[in-house]
Amino acid sequence: MFAREGLEGVVAARTSICLIKGAEGALEYRGYSIHDLANHCGFEEVAYLLWYGALPSADELGDFSRLMRANRILPGRLSRALASILRELTPIDALCAAVSIMGADDPDAADNSPAANVRKAIRLTAKMPAIVGAHHRLARGLNPLAPDSRLNHAANFLYMVKGKRPRELEARALEAAMILEAEHGLNPSTFAARVAAGTLADLHSAVVAALATLKGPLHGGAAAEVIAMLHAVGDRSNAAGFVRKALAAHARVAGFGHRIYKGDDPRAIDLERWCRRLAGNREARRMLDCAGAIEREVRKRVAISPNVDFYAAPLWSMLGFRPAEFAPVFACARIAGWVAHVTEQHLDNRLIRPEEEYIGPLSRPFVPIEQR
Ligand code: CMC
Repeated sequence: MFAREGLEGVVAARTSICLIKGAEGALEYRGYSIHDLANHCGFEEVAYLLWYGALPSADELGDFSRLMRANRILPGRLSRALASILRELTPIDALCAAVSIMGADDPDAADNSPAANVRKAIRLTAKMPAIVGAHHRLARGLNPLAPDSRLNHAANFLYMVKGKRPRELEARALEAAMILEAEHGLNPSTFAARVAAGTLADLHSAVVAALATLKGPLHGGAAAEVIAMLHAVGDRSNAAGFVRKALAAHARVAGFGHRIYKGDDPRAIDLERWCRRLAGNREARRMLDCAGAIEREVRKRVAISPNVDFYAAPLWSMLGFRPAEFAPVFACARIAGWVAHVTEQHLDNRLIRPEEEYIGPLSRPFVPIEQR
């Protein structure tokens, strides 16, 4: 048996959550195009679709949204941890630790049934923006804020970070981006979550496993690399030289390439449009012009396209998030997909345990330590 590098082409699960059509550049959640969902739905509506398998009626969405709003307040133990030890960690480490604390305190901790997973998911998903917001504010010497129950999930997220009600356009841009990032098949974080769930670990533990994969620059850390690159290039007039040198050195251009999409990533197309709508000042327009020039130059030279992170990075930045917060913001969106996958895994579980191809030495004679 021979190893497939990076498990490329290996089918590791049967799922009814998400379909990625890599050749066509199309993506569907539960059979619905992400373009329709991002243009017409709210984040709560899409989370409901992913968790229950069907779009909610107006009444169902009302009840679900009320439950989400009622679960935003952080418990005292978690708030105290944030104000002391967690504020000193990076945003992604703090989120990981906060999810562990929530798991330990969850009343359904030991219950892996679908109903308990949804109850836990509501508590987790509703609180994650509050954790990111509290950490953001504490890092600046500001007090964390109480949530505003008049605002929807995305608008409240921005409020809890910035301390003022966001403009309609900002809230809508964040909401659309969170929908576009909510789910993506067996990407590294979701695969990690499914492997953990496959041992019958609980939802919170599976989410911690998923969060750990977001630190790497090939997955959750890619957006921060994109913004660093855009700052380093600075102006569109430097883009061609930058790309030429990077490709000549066989370096990876951050935010380009994808294992599944062989043409365009449909999420990047929508996010680029949202960036254009949001870019209200000269600095933002300059950053986007620079991104556009890098994209044109890469496309001219190699057959790879921008992925979701290439335009998520300027979008998160325009909304006021620091690069170190991009991965936690992504997690606040992808939690919807992780929950759906963990529940699917728990419902029809078999331990995930691939084999390996051994390439080390064989049958060596043992040498006692005094003779080595
Ligand atoms: N810049 C330059 N060349 C690239 C890039 C890139 N960003 N990505 C892939 N290539 C080339 C690569 O050199 C290789 O060329 P060749 O066949 O001549 O050796 C070819 O494309 C195939 O690359 P690969 O490494 O086999 O592709 P992979 O499926 O193993 O890796 C990837 C996928 C996303 C890790 C990779 O494209 C990459 O490192 N991109 C930059 C990091 C990034 O943007 N990550 C975010 C991914 S999307 C969101 C997410 O999942 O988080």
